[in-house]
Amino acid sequence: MTEPDNPFKLELFQTSDGSHTLKLIGKDEQYHSLNGAMQESQHVFISAGLKPLLHKNDKLFLLEIGLGTGLNALLTAKNAIDNQCNIYYDAIEAYPLHKEWISELNHPDLFDEEWIGKAFQLIHSADEKKYVNIENHFFIKCLRQKIQEVILKEQYYHLVYFDAFGPDTQPELWTKEIFTKISQSMRPGAILVTYCAKGAVRRTMKAAGLQVEKLAGPPGKREITRAVKI
Ligand SMILES: C[S@@+](CC[C@H](N)C(=O)[O-])C[C@H]1O[C@@H](n2cnc3c(N)ncnc32)[C@H](O)[C@@H]1O
Repeated sequence: MTEPDNPFKLELFQTSDGSHTLKLIGKDEQYHSLNGAMQESQHVFISAGLKPLLHKNDKLFLLEIGLGTGLNALLTAKNAIDNQCNIYYDAIEAYPLHKEWISELNHPDLFDEEWIGKAFQLIHSADEKKYVNIENHFFIKCLRQKIQEVILKEQYYHLVYFDAFGPDTQPELWTKEIFTKISQSMRPGAILVTYCAKGAVRRTMKAAGLQVEKLAGPPGKREITRAVKI
């Protein structure tokens, strides 16, 4: 299966914790860690990013760069609903997945909740027009555009999931220009999390006005990065 607009050719892969991801054929790149997609998502985005901010705001405004398979979004929806917190999730995705890929992914099977299957479909139906409401606590929009082309609201987001492909695959997304744009969209004290801990990336984030720390990574990865808007 090839998405007409997607420059990458994809293949389905079952990662070590049983959850699926997509690999980019011919590149050393994938949507999640091959050591466990679910585990990585939970560790990097939920535990390091979302958990410290839950219950701190009536409405939590969250930006994700790269909706991809929707796994981060699904885990975030579960946390919003379990904790009765309201999360407004603005995803940016340049190459939305075709429905054939979405139906192949086993993400909904990894959860016990009845509403998850429907939520997974709703997440992938989201566009920029209006928020899709999931169980009255998780609200998602998706801008089907490149991050380079998007104009972001200033000082708006409490949390950013930076989940682009890695800097070797997409160096154009790990630049001072992109991180400055994102940093300007964050409120003071807002958090950005990413799986990448390269020194050059951390220096670029600092130059964009973020305070950067390294945290222990999930299995198979030594470190990840969390940055705070000063
Ligand atoms: C590592 S994957 C994201 C995985 C995703 N967060 C998930 O939970 O499945 C990177 C994503 O970034 C998207 N992407 C690539 N270039 C982009 C760009 N210029 N702007 C926005 N998204 C982009 C890809 O299509 C892909 O879905």
